[in-house]
Amino acid sequence: MRLFFAVELIGSIKEAIGEAERRIGIRDLPWRWIPPGNVHLTLKFLGETPETDVDALSECAVQACHGLIPFSIRLGGLGGFPNLSRPRVLFFKVDEGARSLTAMAERLDEVLAQRLEIPRETRPFQAHATVARIKTGIPPRIADALQAVPPLRDASQAVKAMSLMRSDLHPQGAKYHRLKEFALAKSE
Ligand code: 2AM
Repeated sequence: MRLFFAVELIGSIKEAIGEAERRIGIRDLPWRWIPPGNVHLTLKFLGETPETDVDALSECAVQACHGLIPFSIRLGGLGGFPNLSRPRVLFFKVDEGARSLTAMAERLDEVLAQRLEIPRETRPFQAHATVARIKTGIPPRIADALQAVPPLRDASQAVKAMSLMRSDLHPQGAKYHRLKEFALAKSE
């Protein structure tokens, strides 16, 4: 199974993302758009993993969530890796709560490495919600249009859990299924 840990986004944020994608109006370009319903915040990509590892991964997630308290995030404007002028990956940034998401991803990374010897990330975590992957160069007209995309509005939500997700690859794109959800410890 192809697995990853993520923070799932609430419906209203996915709708706002879908609306923004429509407004950008460039879906005809040869990009791989992520259907808005699939957009999420990846915490850790695990890749191909035996089903028998799910219990051990779950124990790691429970340990990582222990000591992390729920927090809020707000998504903001469009960004690109490596940049918005020549993006390979197009995403919405996390304007609020990025530090807490980073703490969550780093804690998970640390526990997975300690308990299961899963290699740690070599690059610093950058919270992002990918909406498209781009294999071609983009014309200046489109690059300008991307720069002009306004930030998402009302894109706040609480983060109370992390999810272990399964990704099934199909010719039409990946399908994601939540296998398990792990609650962050409550603040008392
Ligand atoms: P993303 O967070 O930039 O979208 C499932 O494939 C998720 O895991 C995607 O959201 C994807 O990137 C993330 N991911 C991270 N590293 C990956 C890799 N090497 N291959 C595929 N997906 C990866």
